[in-house]
Amino acid sequence: MVRSRIVGTGHYAPEFVLTNEALSKRIDTSDEWIFSRTGIRERRVAREGEHTSDLAVEAAKRALEMAGKKATDVDLIIVGTVTADMPMPASAMLLQAKLGSNAPAFDVSAACAGSIYGLSIADQFIRSGTKRCVLVVGADVLSRVVDWEDRTTCVLFGDAAGAMVMVPETREVGGVYSTHLHGDGSQADILKIPAGGSAFPLSADVLAQGLQYVKMNGREVFKIAVRSLVSAVEEALDANGVAASEVAHIISHQANLRIVESVLDKLSIPMERAIVNIQRYGNTSSASVPVTLDEGVRSGRIHEGDLVVMMAIGAGMAWGSTLMRW
Ligand code: ACO
Repeated sequence: MVRSRIVGTGHYAPEFVLTNEALSKRIDTSDEWIFSRTGIRERRVAREGEHTSDLAVEAAKRALEMAGKKATDVDLIIVGTVTADMPMPASAMLLQAKLGSNAPAFDVSAACAGSIYGLSIADQFIRSGTKRCVLVVGADVLSRVVDWEDRTTCVLFGDAAGAMVMVPETREVGGVYSTHLHGDGSQADILKIPAGGSAFPLSADVLAQGLQYVKMNGREVFKIAVRSLVSAVEEALDANGVAASEVAHIISHQANLRIVESVLDKLSIPMERAIVNIQRYGNTSSASVPVTLDEGVRSGRIHEGDLVVMMAIGAGMAWGSTLMRW
């Protein structure tokens, strides 16, 4: 069975930078509080009229260019998002049209794990020989679904998109070795946007209660995130007979620097192996992993032959990992 390989990466973040300093003038918070607890200094915020598919198309174009592929070469588009442009159609379809592709396209709802879920789905399609060029995008505009009066959530998130182009691996050694997806729907309540679906359709009453915004039990999320990510990385290493010491780069979902530090400490992997950009973007949900991967590739830090572990967790709770040789 042929493995898959990522041959192109790209990312896009909106121009507007919202710093902790600027936020602390609007709500009761401080740069010191936010940075010491999360590692975040600033985040990007989409401008009015800039939608999830707009961010996605910029990231996708950059990834296709790196891959040396045209939009018409793509035979499947997967977008991980929880902030689609609208409930229907899928943002992946809007992206397809903006790119000038006619590939089948669908969204995956796995919150911050959306890109890992998308990558795993793409990997299955390529391994089975069904698809030969899959575009996986993580794109979210969380600035539209956070309550800017709620200091416990609004300081954490930012807007961005990241993209990966995946094709069959032709090298003897290399590509995606395995992917590992998990979930625990019994934890749905600790991180959610209650309204806007069939449970609580939008109404004046629902809006007055603020149920259209992200609600989170940060402490619970933190505990489950550390536990789940440690076991997901161990699973990826065990599945391939690889020791933690052999891993050259950790591409983690950037939810909170303290989460990444805690996970790597438990795995005895030095923090220098993690590529970190949370200080500039905050938590960009499904965009986080492909944005971080793209920065690692374009900065020249990730070299051909390096072993790379990617890991992410988000609302659901949904989480996963992958091990690949770049
Ligand atoms: N500025 C100043 N004070 C604040 C802020 C803020 N922005 N937010 C909360 N506080 C206050 C609280 O009101 C509380 O005050 P009190 O003691 O007087 O009641 C105090 O700070 C401590 O609040 P905690 O919620 O206990 O703070 P904690 O140390 O747990 O940090 C945080 C909160 C940063 C959210 C942490 O729990 C966390 O990062 N959890 C993980 C959440 C996460 O990553 N979510 C992202 C989505 S899921 C994912 O991607 C994995």
